[in-house]
Amino acid sequence: MNKTLKPLFACLFSGLICTGAAAAEPQVINIKTDGSSMVMSVTSDGEVLFHHFGGRIDDATPVTGIKSYRRTDHGTDNLAYSTMGGRNFREPALRVTHADGDMNTELRYVSHTTRTLADTNVTRTVIKLTDTNQALDVELFYTAYAEENVITTHAVIRNREKGSIVLHSFYSSSLPVKARSYLLTHLYGAWARESQVDHTLLTHGSKSIESRKQVRTTHTENPAFMITLDSESFDENYGEVIAGALAWSGNFRLNFEVDEFNVLNILAGANPYASDYTLGAGESFTTPEMIYTYSSEGAGGASRHLHDWARNYGVWHGHTYAPTLLNSWEGAYFTFDAKTLTEMIDDAADMGLEMFVLDDGWFGNKYPRNDSNAGLGDWQVNAKKLPEGIDYIASYAHQKGMKFGIWFEPEMISPDSDLYRAHPDWCIHIPGRMQVESRHQLVLDLSRKEVREYIIDAVSAAMERGNVDYVKWDMNRNMNMLHSDGLDSAHQKELNHRYILGLYEILEAVTSRFPDVLFESCAGGGGRFDFGMMHYMPQAWCSDDTDAFMRCRIQYGTSMVFPVSTMGAHVSAVPNHQMGRSTPLATRAAVAMGGTYGYELDLTRLPKEELDEIRRLNEKVKALQPLLLYGEFYRLCSPFEGNKTAFMSVSEDRREAVVTHVYGPAEPNRQPVLLPLRGLDAEKEYRDVESGRVYGGDELMTHGLTIPRAWGDYMATQFHLVAVD
Ligand code: DGJ
Repeated sequence: MNKTLKPLFACLFSGLICTGAAAAEPQVINIKTDGSSMVMSVTSDGEVLFHHFGGRIDDATPVTGIKSYRRTDHGTDNLAYSTMGGRNFREPALRVTHADGDMNTELRYVSHTTRTLADTNVTRTVIKLTDTNQALDVELFYTAYAEENVITTHAVIRNREKGSIVLHSFYSSSLPVKARSYLLTHLYGAWARESQVDHTLLTHGSKSIESRKQVRTTHTENPAFMITLDSESFDENYGEVIAGALAWSGNFRLNFEVDEFNVLNILAGANPYASDYTLGAGESFTTPEMIYTYSSEGAGGASRHLHDWARNYGVWHGHTYAPTLLNSWEGAYFTFDAKTLTEMIDDAADMGLEMFVLDDGWFGNKYPRNDSNAGLGDWQVNAKKLPEGIDYIASYAHQKGMKFGIWFEPEMISPDSDLYRAHPDWCIHIPGRMQVESRHQLVLDLSRKEVREYIIDAVSAAMERGNVDYVKWDMNRNMNMLHSDGLDSAHQKELNHRYILGLYEILEAVTSRFPDVLFESCAGGGGRFDFGMMHYMPQAWCSDDTDAFMRCRIQYGTSMVFPVSTMGAHVSAVPNHQMGRSTPLATRAAVAMGGTYGYELDLTRLPKEELDEIRRLNEKVKALQPLLLYGEFYRLCSPFEGNKTAFMSVSEDRREAVVTHVYGPAEPNRQPVLLPLRGLDAEKEYRDVESGRVYGGDELMTHGLTIPRAWGDYMATQFHLVAVD
């Protein structure tokens, strides 16, 4: 069959209405949001080329007519979904060994459709491609969210060949971009210092950010990025920025390759590292979703687009009210009984808090969870510690008018547990090799159906018994020594991918069974802070580091991608348990208000003045919650650039704002700070609720708000501004 006609042929057979690949005039596919466009076109021989991701173009002309300075025009360099094969020399999005051993793939246009979904803000374009020589099809899905200025994309790969094919690389997207320079901003870190902000100017060659830790993937890198175009410096408010985030909780890889023509090709998706996936005849493979946005208002604009999209679409229950809470962890760790907990509940109720969360240590009988050595997998209440059961603690909280939450680490198993005694083969291990424990625990093999069923049943039963309102879903180790007893040798390399799909299946089952329960994910802090988890759980514990000054950095970095409403943030004791640093209570509270607010400390140890202060703070937080969590977020002053941090939230109608400023360690001869605000209405006047002073919105934004000099270390100031009618 004539190769160039084959796509058209396939199109006719599929019954789709399309103009066909061999049309004389190249077709243009213009995927639009209110403020951006992704433009592709179909060449006369059926290649789909990518031309533009940037400001909105209403009527894009075919490739040769597009004058965008970000045009990429180097033959197959700008394929909409690059493959290994043809004339492509770059790292491809898709690399396949076909059933007959052929390693080439050359995709050609078959058809495309665009339709508006039931939610008219959302439009979906599906581009169908097929290989010129093999029975392999790829569908590229682009979903455009008009108001949020976000376009998400994924690929579906279908094997219609007679035998199995092997997918070596299966990225979610490849995005070619052309600009004069590319400044990459991304998040790096470690346990207890997640989401630090790194900037690097991309030079020729490749730079990648990735995870190979299999499950706890975001302590060291996050699958998200920003690229500032045409400028060598990062700017919160001005300039063009492309940002992206991958909704995937397993190994990921984002590769940034600048070629000899200064074209940047961004590959984003599941990490191909040791992950060949065998696709049987007739099977298909769906890649994770990649989320993109374009902003002409600097990094801050890109973040706000992602925040809006997350709250409206990306995050399960993205507008859920987050109850103020007391968590038992840093206040009691593993050492508690029913009396300790009921006293904690009494204290929390007295402080006006809305939920009590019982963290680690409540389960395991034969192998009690009195430290991190035992008990994971045995999700029955420890009868010695809590003889009247979890339901007693839950009812006690409920009687006090509070919600009740509980901790699980369902993906793990302790070698000292009934579960391990019953099913030693359920953990990920390599027969004959030594098992590698981390925090004295092993990882359950979620690729196996019986393991998934056990977890769903065990967690559901404990949730039902406890009548819980909230679950903290923790996960505290990386995964290595990969092998599953449930997979044959041809499929062993799929274990990481199948594990994550298994995890999502469990989360889907549990969250559907308990639609009114609030779920918070956690992975030793921010070890799994991604939109994959947030599809099921609206919030995540940012970090095990609760030190307020360190949290300024962690939360500031996290806000590059994720909204305030997703960031678990608590006030803890001083000296801080992770850093040994002491910060004022007001500072700890102001910083925790930059996330979902709570406490984890022993309230009985606090002096009366601090308890009074906490009562007052809790009333303030409850009153300001909608604004703090769901307002438009502006970063004002970066802790990565100096000794202070500032950020603000503005209500949608721009009538109200909360501004937070935190100084670092005391400095001699400190001068007052002039802090220009953002997002207010220049025409309005605003009253500072505490001082009663009135400022013009124009003055606050062009001149700034004066932050008084502070005496001492780590002093915070907060302003609540309300428009004067
Ligand atoms: C790690 C979490 O990040 C902590 O908040 C706490 O829940 C512990 N696990 C409990 O083991």
